[in-house]
Amino acid sequence: MIQRVDNYEEMSRIAAKLFQVAIQKQPGLVLGLATGTTPIGLYDNLVELYRARELDFHFVRTVNLDEYVGLTAAHVQSYRYFMNTHLFDRVNIQRDNTHLPDGMAPDLAVECKRYDEMVDSLGGIDLQLLGIGRNGHIGFNEPADVFSTGTVAVDLTDDTIDANARLFANAGEVPKKAISMGIKTIMLAKKVVLLATADKKDIVEKAFLGPITPRVPASILQAHQNVTVLLAKE
Ligand code: GLP
Repeated sequence: MIQRVDNYEEMSRIAAKLFQVAIQKQPGLVLGLATGTTPIGLYDNLVELYRARELDFHFVRTVNLDEYVGLTAAHVQSYRYFMNTHLFDRVNIQRDNTHLPDGMAPDLAVECKRYDEMVDSLGGIDLQLLGIGRNGHIGFNEPADVFSTGTVAVDLTDDTIDANARLFANAGEVPKKAISMGIKTIMLAKKVVLLATADKKDIVEKAFLGPITPRVPASILQAHQNVTVLLAKE
């Protein structure tokens, strides 16, 4: 299940190839997308394939895993901004076909419900991309007593706030809450690709070789039929 690859570049290239094959096979597929620093190389590779006319995003639909509560789409650390700048603005995807939770929604419970219904209306996710938090979170599903099901509003753990503080002016500016797609929705994706850099080796091994527990949310992926984990050696 864990495929060890030489380095970040190779991980990004192999992942891009998987995405390219999937899109070519099914041009209107639903991609589940992720943010964080890990998938940036994959997105750059997809943009290159698009520019080389080897990939067409015209019919592709996307749903993202998560969004910070309280950040507008124009905020440079919002996940909408991230997706626009790293992928959507650089390829021929139709903006109406790209979906993220709305972190500015006035009622989070209503927004979570809307997001689940939207994913359902697309027929679920064909290919889900994941990173992994250093505490084993996927999306923003933090370690907990039970696995989440549908989209949830979550309180971020101090560990996650600390890990993501590097991207903000200081830890005080990191939102304390986020909206995250639930574990069940992720598990219903037909195929999952998880990318991890070398610094995540220990948590990846804990998640995929240790017991399945909501204390390590990514461990549930052991029960998924079609997961590829690309772990970079350096
Ligand atoms: C954030 C995101 C996750 C991501 C994780 C790891 O918390 N919500 O989806 O996987 O960070 O990010 P990075 O790839 O920067 O280590």
